[in-house]
Amino acid sequence: MKDYHSLIAGNWVKSSKKLPIENPANQKIIGYLYDVGSQGAKKAIEAAHNAFPNWSGNTAKYRSDILKKWYSLIKKNKKEISKIITLESGKPLKESEAEVEYGASFIEWFAEQSLRVSGEIFNSPDIKKKMMTIKQPIGVVSAITPWNFPLAMVTRKTSAAMACGCTVVLKPSELTPITSIKLAELALKAGVPPGVLNVVNGNPKIIGKSLSTHPLVKKITFTGSTLVGKLLMRNASNTVKSVSLELGGNAPFVVFDDSNLENAVNGLIDSKFRNAGQTCISANRVFVQESVEKKFLDLLVNKIESLKIGDGMKNSDIGPLINTKAILKLKSHIKDALKKGANLLCGGSVSTVGELFFQPTILSNVTSKMMAFNNENFGPLVPIITFKKDESLIKMCNDTSYGLAAYFYSQNSKRIWNISEKLEFGMVGVNTGKISTYLNPFGGFKESGIGREGSTDGLEAFLEKKYISWDQN
Ligand code: SIN
Repeated sequence: MKDYHSLIAGNWVKSSKKLPIENPANQKIIGYLYDVGSQGAKKAIEAAHNAFPNWSGNTAKYRSDILKKWYSLIKKNKKEISKIITLESGKPLKESEAEVEYGASFIEWFAEQSLRVSGEIFNSPDIKKKMMTIKQPIGVVSAITPWNFPLAMVTRKTSAAMACGCTVVLKPSELTPITSIKLAELALKAGVPPGVLNVVNGNPKIIGKSLSTHPLVKKITFTGSTLVGKLLMRNASNTVKSVSLELGGNAPFVVFDDSNLENAVNGLIDSKFRNAGQTCISANRVFVQESVEKKFLDLLVNKIESLKIGDGMKNSDIGPLINTKAILKLKSHIKDALKKGANLLCGGSVSTVGELFFQPTILSNVTSKMMAFNNENFGPLVPIITFKKDESLIKMCNDTSYGLAAYFYSQNSKRIWNISEKLEFGMVGVNTGKISTYLNPFGGFKESGIGREGSTDGLEAFLEKKYISWDQN
């Protein structure tokens, strides 16, 4: 059984406390993770602080070339990394391969975009004064990443920070740390200097506290639950750290009466069943206009029945959920909905494949009184809500404290514009269930987060703007 350690100042650091890492497909232990605790986190922050002057003081081209090498090494090792992702997260191998491509694309993008970071020179109102702005890296960054995308959430944060000249302390999820460790090995191989990228493993509460309170940390970037995001934000406030938060969602997915229903079904499958529904942008409430409901549901049930549930290594479409807690949450949503009048159209229980595999489930007649409407289910559960008019629909879609992603299907351009404008969500998919690329500003409104990742905005999150007023007398 392999042991996995933390990377601090370019060295793999051992500790005495170990945690098992399990494959969710069969609960077998695939390795042990050594917990470096708050002392390890402190050392990593200091290492990042010490590495900052040289890394930030070099040229953007120097950093960009190293990041491009990192990108190439990840692509070259795609097969091995994909297997690691599937083993530790459970997602189907084809999705892990897609994640490697998706995650690597952020490194390439930020390596290129960082060459274009620039300031401004203003037309000064005073002839003897030059006025300008420059952009500088913010400093040491804490990056805390989730288990549902063990690679892409790491690269989306770390490559943007590193491209700008920041140094990073990464805390990957203790459920899926092996991918990050492999990424860090490749980063060292690509020439990332010691201390620029540190990886600290262990108990999330203890390490998260150090990473969000240490005065040398200038920025926290986090993807995970809204509850933890709020806690990190509170911790960060003591030393007024900058925060970027990508938190929970409760995505509406709307099927209007003028939709192409087959496309809508395929889009829903793309959005809902990616990683067995365990993504922040998965469709969570499916609103279907009354006149097309029967036809849409017939098509959907048919399609869902063709999906293969099974171990991600065995060519499946839907893998396991991450742990028992996730299963219990789904069960409670279903039980609550059935008690309050919903109908079960298919699925509804744990699959015979294994204890963490849940059947794709459709509930119709769902209302806003149910847990399935108000909470992110993070699993293969499709709650169907019937609606009649566009006005009531918008109100229901926005009736949530979240505002990450929303989707709708329609072929009417007036409706498309109107609905796109009125949805209170940071990302809107129109006639598509797939919205994620390196190019889109990824992030949410309301309690779904602060800031944007990817796109040109992704770099700005790690830069400070400095104004210089230069009197030439
Ligand atoms: C997430 O679920 O947090 C990220 C999904 C994505 O980047 O597409």
